Amino acid sequence: MTADRTKRTCLAVILAAGESTRMKSSKSKVLHPVANRPMIAHVVDALARAGIADIALVLGRDAEKVEAAAKNAAVKSTVHIQTERLGTAHAVLAAREAIARGYDDLLVVFGDTPLITEAPLIAAREGLADGADVVVIGFETADPTGYGRLIVENGELLAIREHKDATETERAITYCNGGLMAIDGRKALDLIGRIGNENAKGEYYLTDIVEVARASGGRAIAVAAPEEELTGCNTRAELAVIERLWQQRRRHAMMIEGVSMIAPETVFLSYDTEIGRDATIEPNVVFGPGVTVESGAVIHSFSHLEGAHVGADAEIGPYARLRPGAKLGDGSKVGNFTEIKKAEVGAGAKVNHLSYIGDAFIGAHTNVGAGTITCNYDGINKHITRIGSDAFIGSNTSLVAPVTVGNGAYIASGSVITADVPDDAVAFGRARQENKEGRAVLIRERNQAIKDAKKKDAR
Ligand code: UD1
Ligand code: CA
Repeated sequence: MTADRTKRTCLAVILAAGESTRMKSSKSKVLHPVANRPMIAHVVDALARAGIADIALVLGRDAEKVEAAAKNAAVKSTVHIQTERLGTAHAVLAAREAIARGYDDLLVVFGDTPLITEAPLIAAREGLADGADVVVIGFETADPTGYGRLIVENGELLAIREHKDATETERAITYCNGGLMAIDGRKALDLIGRIGNENAKGEYYLTDIVEVARASGGRAIAVAAPEEELTGCNTRAELAVIERLWQQRRRHAMMIEGVSMIAPETVFLSYDTEIGRDATIEPNVVFGPGVTVESGAVIHSFSHLEGAHVGADAEIGPYARLRPGAKLGDGSKVGNFTEIKKAEVGAGAKVNHLSYIGDAFIGAHTNVGAGTITCNYDGINKHITRIGSDAFIGSNTSLVAPVTVGNGAYIASGSVITADVPDDAVAFGRARQENKEGRAVLIRERNQAIKDAKKKDAR
């Protein structure tokens, strides 16, 4: 054991070779997303935040996809395939090569517990630094059915009894095995190698390591973590529970940091959503991946944002859609039924009603009238619309890209703009209006005569 606990080396083994049968899915369970990110990536992130840089992934189906989903710049990982599924101890041994490199600490975690945070992982390693050989992360629960029970006496963990193997008295225990544990890295292979499979399921249970370690004079303890963090995912219904818990946790953290949410339970965040102080998020707003919102911005109800940046004090919605590449300047406004895609809206500019702005640049303080459309696509290629600052785009304008409108230019309502407009020019791109005096009366009389003739025929 390394004396200085801050210098102890650690390998984390993530078990994710399960068949995911109960998910009824064509892909591995750990690829299913929580907050728009694969479950396994959340686990890797918790490990990285706990300061663990070496990871061994024990995989079965979809190994390549899971490896890609687990990629994280802060960690180095190796992949180990468990070809037969003979239990959690057998699964850890699939990573024998990595463990044999020699670490002070070995952490075993599951790929399907994405709510785990760094705190229990750090606490478990502390237990090893204090001299334990095995530290199990446990939790108290009202309904322990199905979990391994922790048999603790005088602070020592004596054994973990799997539900199927437990006596009635043992089943009454509510302190359970979360499945995650830390093991003395120098002894791990020897201890796990001594685990047998004489139990109800005929599997090699990692949980038996407690009794194996004690039999050779070692020490085992349990550290408690909140039940929520150890929520596992076996079914889609449990996936939805995990999503809800994740959302609750993140919304709460954001509100504590100064973000206002009027009905937080209706706001959906992504794993990477960033919202500044004094921003207000109204009910029923959805944040897809890659959104940053600066301080003081207001996102009105029913808006959907993805891959977008919202500047300070900007106002979005209600019913706005920001798609990838939308960049809204400070104090800008994007109103109802407006879609912005891959476009910059300058500071203080307004696109308030029923518009589509794609592949465009809009200068500061420009006003884009209701129903303006950038015609950015010719069926094969996308083209760019550039609008200068302080311009005025009349309602119902079609801007046929590629096209440029200068600073301070005016576009008459209903125009179809196909040619560039210079600075400070007014562009009319529509037919001139003609009034025919009295013509409406003639048309009415003619139409009435047609109707009367039809009635007569019908008789
Ligand atoms: C396990 C624990 C139980 C604990 C519970 C917490 C054991 C024997 N039991 O039970 O004490 O209360 O977790 O949720 O450890 N896996 C493999 N290969 C295998 C077997 C499992 O990769 O051969 C992976 C699974 O994909 C999963 C994890 O290990 O991620 C746990 O396996 P699972 O069969 O779900 O264990 P439980 O019966 O839930
Ligand atoms: Ca399980």
